[in-house]
Amino acid sequence: MRRVRYASPGGPLFLEEVPVPRPDAGEVLVRCEAVGVTLPVVRKVTEAAGPVPLGGEVAGEVVALGADVTGLAVGDRVAGLCFGHGYADFAVLRREMTSPVPDGVGAVEAVALVRSGPVALGALSAARPRSGEAALVTAAASGVGHLAVRLARARGAARVVGAVSDPGKADFVRSLGADEVVVYGDDGWGEPVDYVLDGVGGDVLTPAVGALAPGGRLVAYGSGGGTVRAYDLLVGARTVTGFQIARIARETPDVYERWRRELWRLYAEEGLRPAVHGPYALEDAAKAHEAVTSRGNLGKVVLVP
Ligand SMILES: NC(=O)c1ccc[n+]([C@@H]2O[C@H](COP(=O)([O-])OP(=O)(O)OC[C@H]3O[C@@H](n4cnc5c(N)ncnc54)[C@H](OP(=O)(O)O)[C@@H]3O)[C@@H](O)[C@H]2O)c1
Repeated sequence: MRRVRYASPGGPLFLEEVPVPRPDAGEVLVRCEAVGVTLPVVRKVTEAAGPVPLGGEVAGEVVALGADVTGLAVGDRVAGLCFGHGYADFAVLRREMTSPVPDGVGAVEAVALVRSGPVALGALSAARPRSGEAALVTAAASGVGHLAVRLARARGAARVVGAVSDPGKADFVRSLGADEVVVYGDDGWGEPVDYVLDGVGGDVLTPAVGALAPGGRLVAYGSGGGTVRAYDLLVGARTVTGFQIARIARETPDVYERWRRELWRLYAEEGLRPAVHGPYALEDAAKAHEAVTSRGNLGKVVLVP
């Protein structure tokens, strides 16, 4: 089978031929029909000390089951998180990170929802949104952010503001249901909001906290670091909360599973659809990564083996 790899930090990415892996106990072998590309994985190529498997999330068909796997059968269509090699024709997933894809959901849409969806839904839940509130979402065109815009709207936000690095993304973000679009460098970010979902961090954190109305809540889920000034929280009694999906999946898998089911329900009953950037062929993985590092993607970047 084909697999994408790189030999030293920074790349380049290349395809190699390797044997199809075998699932161990508790694992599922999936023929990949779609593979998700996410910023944390893209970052590893330049930031990890040595080459790491390019994983993330995959969707496809179960072709073999390891020992002790229950609740899935060969031929099932599934999607899940992949912590090993996922940029490949076949991937091994842990059973508990894998769930069936409902009829009618294509592999590309499934992979765009299976990880970014729970992150967006989880970050939104952490903000404890109330109907009629105003929301602001940073990285509003990203794989997670664009779903967060749609979900905030679906959860009853009266006003949704999308924040992006490039004004060229404004039409796309409005098409998701945002009422307003601001650019990080803008002097003001408009009327204050009740909650912010921040997937950027770094220098964006200070204006993002500043966008909160008194009593407002910011959920920091991005891996971009940054500093929150305590004085900015004191003024207006604002709150900042962190959110990490890996912790939820590991420590409260029932919560994680509930969010996944809720996403499939929103897909089936409320028309929630992910926007897909690409998809790119497996051999074009470098171009897919470039779409992320250049901050040019509109929606979830997907590879199709
Ligand atoms: N906490 C969690 O559990 C969790 C899980 C998955 C992802 N995340 C985080 O969610 C954020 C979005 O991830 P994603 O997978 O949705 O991204 P993605 O689909 O790969 O989209 C990348 C977009 O994110 C924005 N971005 C923010 N910081 C960036 C940076 N330092 N370099 C390049 N792009 C950056 C850019 O949009 P703009 O230029 O418009 O900002 C870029 O177009 C990331 O910070 C990621 O680490 C968190």
